[in-house]
Amino acid sequence: MASIPKNNQIDQWRSIMFLYDSALKAINTKIEIINNEFVQINKYNPIEHVKSRLKTPESIVKKLKRSGYDVTIDSMIEKLSDIAGIRIICSFRSDIYQIVDMIERQKDITVLYIKDYIKNPKPNGYRSYHMVVTIPIYLTSGPVETKVEIQIRTVAMDFWASLEHKIYYKFEGDAPDNLQQELKDCADMVDMLDAKMFSLNERILSYSKNNIAEQQED
Ligand code: GTP
Ligand code: MG
Repeated sequence: MASIPKNNQIDQWRSIMFLYDSALKAINTKIEIINNEFVQINKYNPIEHVKSRLKTPESIVKKLKRSGYDVTIDSMIEKLSDIAGIRIICSFRSDIYQIVDMIERQKDITVLYIKDYIKNPKPNGYRSYHMVVTIPIYLTSGPVETKVEIQIRTVAMDFWASLEHKIYYKFEGDAPDNLQQELKDCADMVDMLDAKMFSLNERILSYSKNNIAEQQED
């Protein structure tokens, strides 16, 4: 049976979660500024929406146990990268890489590692761009570098990932082969859709530019 946490552990837990929560706020503000600057320069919104969440204590414990780590606050800080998580949903694949560039250019953000599941999709068809970064949170005792996992994907990739996630949980990771195959087929369709929507958008943009140029010549 799990022992009842002592008061000092509860205090430690609270101050750690305060850090992760503050890191989410800091990154969210940065993303909002990145988006606003992008709108000024490119005249369109690259970000459809942003979701952020703190991992629940239950899923922190579950993940530590599943990975064979000690269930302690220290091991959670060291081993888990997704206690603070942000998901950025974009319209087009090209927006993703522009946003990644803009995040990487922020002086106070340190990129610990990236996983580009768009260039290298997972065998099940999962596509998304993952970054694990740290951002300093300034406490009276000094700055604390705090980890945040950022996932960036298109609306279509997000649609696919949420259905895949549901199926994965429903079958506890062991979905029937035909379902897995159909999901993989859908992932390929999502990829085609993203490519088509991108080229269509490029044509629309170039059309409106030409149109404006023609109008100005008149
Ligand atoms: P975990 O998968 O979280 O244990 O970490 P990891 O070190 O394997 O990192 P990875 O970058 O592969 O995955 C991090 C997160 O991306 C996951 O927690 C999910 O939110 C998401 N993700 C990764 N793979 C898949 C997938 O196949 N399907 C879906 N729906 N989400 C995925
Ligand atoms: Mg994983």
